[in-house]
Amino acid sequence: MADKLPSTAIVIFGVSGDLSRRYLLPALVEICQSREVKAQLNILGLSRRELRASDVLSTKAADLASRFETLQMDYTQADDYKKLKTKLKEAACEQVIFYFAVPPQAVLPIVRNLGANKMNGGKFRLLMEKPFGTDYDSAKQLIDEINQHFKESQVYRIDHYLAKEAAQNIAVFLGSNALFRDVWNSQFIEKIDIVAEEEIGVANRAEFWEQTGSLRDFVQSHLMQLAALVLMKPCPDVFDFSQVQSRRLAALRQLELADAGAAIKAQYEGYRQEAANPISKVETFVSLKLKSNDPDWQGIPITLTTGKRLKTKQTEIRVYFKKTQAAQTNLLRLLIQPKVGVELELWVKKPGYEQELQKLPLDFSYQQYFDRLPEAYEQVIIDAIRSRNNLFASSEEVLASWKILQPLLSSWDAREPMLYKPGQTAQQVIHNT
Ligand code: BG6
Repeated sequence: MADKLPSTAIVIFGVSGDLSRRYLLPALVEICQSREVKAQLNILGLSRRELRASDVLSTKAADLASRFETLQMDYTQADDYKKLKTKLKEAACEQVIFYFAVPPQAVLPIVRNLGANKMNGGKFRLLMEKPFGTDYDSAKQLIDEINQHFKESQVYRIDHYLAKEAAQNIAVFLGSNALFRDVWNSQFIEKIDIVAEEEIGVANRAEFWEQTGSLRDFVQSHLMQLAALVLMKPCPDVFDFSQVQSRRLAALRQLELADAGAAIKAQYEGYRQEAANPISKVETFVSLKLKSNDPDWQGIPITLTTGKRLKTKQTEIRVYFKKTQAAQTNLLRLLIQPKVGVELELWVKKPGYEQELQKLPLDFSYQQYFDRLPEAYEQVIIDAIRSRNNLFASSEEVLASWKILQPLLSSWDAREPMLYKPGQTAQQVIHNT
């Protein structure tokens, strides 16, 4: 990274929470160790209870520790924001990023207090985690309220799937290879499946999960954005990222549910004990079909599937090419994780005396060729520091995505989920439910 970045204070609301420990702090450790990143960073971890830096930083975080301070503060107390303001004045950085790692109900009180204390001018930016509302109306309300204090250009809504290397590669790969660029439409493609399988369950997030579920947590954000990346029109210049956000939005606006009644809602056995709610109807697995009204994509089923406590962690986009005359269908797999790469299944003559076809993969993984892939959160932080918003979800994208799901949401919470046994593949769950 050639350019020197502006000096930046990163203020973390909820520094001791799961999100901050799992994703943000490890990413900051990497950034602070990197020689490539030339930026003066000051990190201020806020929490409700008294906390020392060593309570949240691992022993490996020496480079981060030297720029890290903590501050105890009650987010609902207007007076405590004066303490924060004084700290930020002392740090004297060119810009300030407020990162929200707090439960959804804590967001607005913080935003209002920042506004009331004039910490919302041009040098301030919000880095926000989903969920952005629980349906279209609540998301709209949240966005409107935030916009009373901050401009849209100051609000960076994280969808860390957009920042994964493999997701960033989708537009570049499809736009740069003649083999795919010209056949990327319903004339040649039969169907698209986007599958995100997770091995973990809800772990220590049961309380949050009871308010959320897979549809709102995962489908509305990550899977919709992956769909948008696959369906969007290629940019004339693949590295002109300035158009990516508006093209994703255009793709989302063409999508609708194919058959709301056919959506699968399921829950893993054992979830109700973890959630301490024997009658919970909250899902840990969803599979649903979308269709696009874009003339390029008409008639193509796009299936989004995600679930927890499945056999392995694996996210991929499967694009099935149409069978034409003698040619068999080909499968292109865009591998998002854990293997990051591309696999194309091709038909070849099976060696031997018989006349038989055999399917073989042509594949590569990034891990084969690159020593280290930056984690999504590193990219998120770097882009927020350098004011690039194309890897973040705009308010219009968030609303477009809720709009797609709206017909399902009215009856979703009352629907009884099917139960599935942990340890299966997503395909098995779909088959067995
Ligand atoms: C989060 C979801 O956004 O993404 C979690 O809230 C999920 O439910 C996580 O486990 C998965 O992220 P990753 O990067 O580990 O695939």
